[in-house]
Amino acid sequence: MASLAGELPLVCVTGAGGFIGSSLVKELLQRGYVVRGTARNPDDRKNAHLHSLDGAKQRLSLYHADVLDYESLRIAFSLCDGVFHVASPISDNDPELMAVAIEGTKNVINAAADMGVQRVVFTSSYGAVHMNPNRSPDQVVDESCWSDLEFCLKTKNFYCYAKTVAEKTAMEEASKRGIQLLVIVPSLTLGEMLQPTLHLGIELFIASYMKGTKKTYPNTVSGYVDVQDVARAHVLVYETPAAHGRYLCIGEVVHRSEFIQMMRELFPQYPITTRCKDDNAPRAKPYKFSTQRLQALGMKFTPLKESLHKTVVCLQAQGHIPKLLHNKSAL
Ligand SMILES: NC(=O)c1ccc[n+]([C@@H]2O[C@H](COP(=O)([O-])OP(=O)(O)OC[C@H]3O[C@@H](n4cnc5c(N)ncnc54)[C@H](OP(=O)(O)O)[C@@H]3O)[C@@H](O)[C@H]2O)c1
Repeated sequence: MASLAGELPLVCVTGAGGFIGSSLVKELLQRGYVVRGTARNPDDRKNAHLHSLDGAKQRLSLYHADVLDYESLRIAFSLCDGVFHVASPISDNDPELMAVAIEGTKNVINAAADMGVQRVVFTSSYGAVHMNPNRSPDQVVDESCWSDLEFCLKTKNFYCYAKTVAEKTAMEEASKRGIQLLVIVPSLTLGEMLQPTLHLGIELFIASYMKGTKKTYPNTVSGYVDVQDVARAHVLVYETPAAHGRYLCIGEVVHRSEFIQMMRELFPQYPITTRCKDDNAPRAKPYKFSTQRLQALGMKFTPLKESLHKTVVCLQAQGHIPKLLHNKSAL
């Protein structure tokens, strides 16, 4: 893909050293982009893996930027053709982080507009979609669905609240400033971690079961997607001139018991619980969802089992869990 000036396209990824950010930087480098990644501390050892990616030596530079520091964003976005706004504080129990996610997003869109960037891809979350107790279980969850803000606050889901308001803020600011905004809405993301630090979601949803520290699993359903698919989706919408608006990025929706069963089949030697927390309640039903918009652009999703396998092999290789044998025939 060439920029308007016919040179190699220059794009900026905020939060480049994180789980999704790193995978996106890798994807962009593989596709020939010149990439600027932002981090609050580019020299921190937790970002060193970025320098080992193929093409990084020639085409990756890291910039300091905090989403609350407007000038740092303007510097990072200068001369960029596009911006991928991935950075966000990740925590479900710190209401102060809501302000950072929302204000930070406003800053990113405005700094991008100041610097003449035309296209911004924003990483939203399924948290901005699924938190709605009034939605009928028969409704197909698609891009028209939004989380209910009051319900998010009442249930103390501050992360879902922040991502919902941040996404709406991105849309409003982009429309005011004439920015073409594309939004990727990933569900719970699994897969290979390029970064050395253990990601909170992977810790909660996989590592804690593999280590046997979770003694029960909840009676709940969740959507899952592979991190490489999430990265590919970002680039796909960026590179498709006609793309616009939100794109749900979900591979599969399963009950936690099925997720646990997959783990147990693939890795029978780990002490993974078989106990549901509320065995007596009716079993939560998987909901229907549509990723038609993304699939129409050519997107194909990695099977959940494959993604789960990659995640665990990565956890083993990085020493986050003990290295016990796995059952390759279960794949
Ligand atoms: N993982 C999932 O399951 C999932 C699912 C749906 C959506 N998402 C979304 O995907 C994006 C990336 O999440 P992730 O899972 O990759 O999490 P992550 O690994 O924790 O990455 C978060 C990134 O945000 C950056 N960040 C946090 N506060 C910042 C600030 N004030 N200024 C600048 N950068 C800041 C961090 O950079 P530093 O190095 O500077 O700390 C880090 O690189 C987020 O927008 C998240 O909401 C994630």
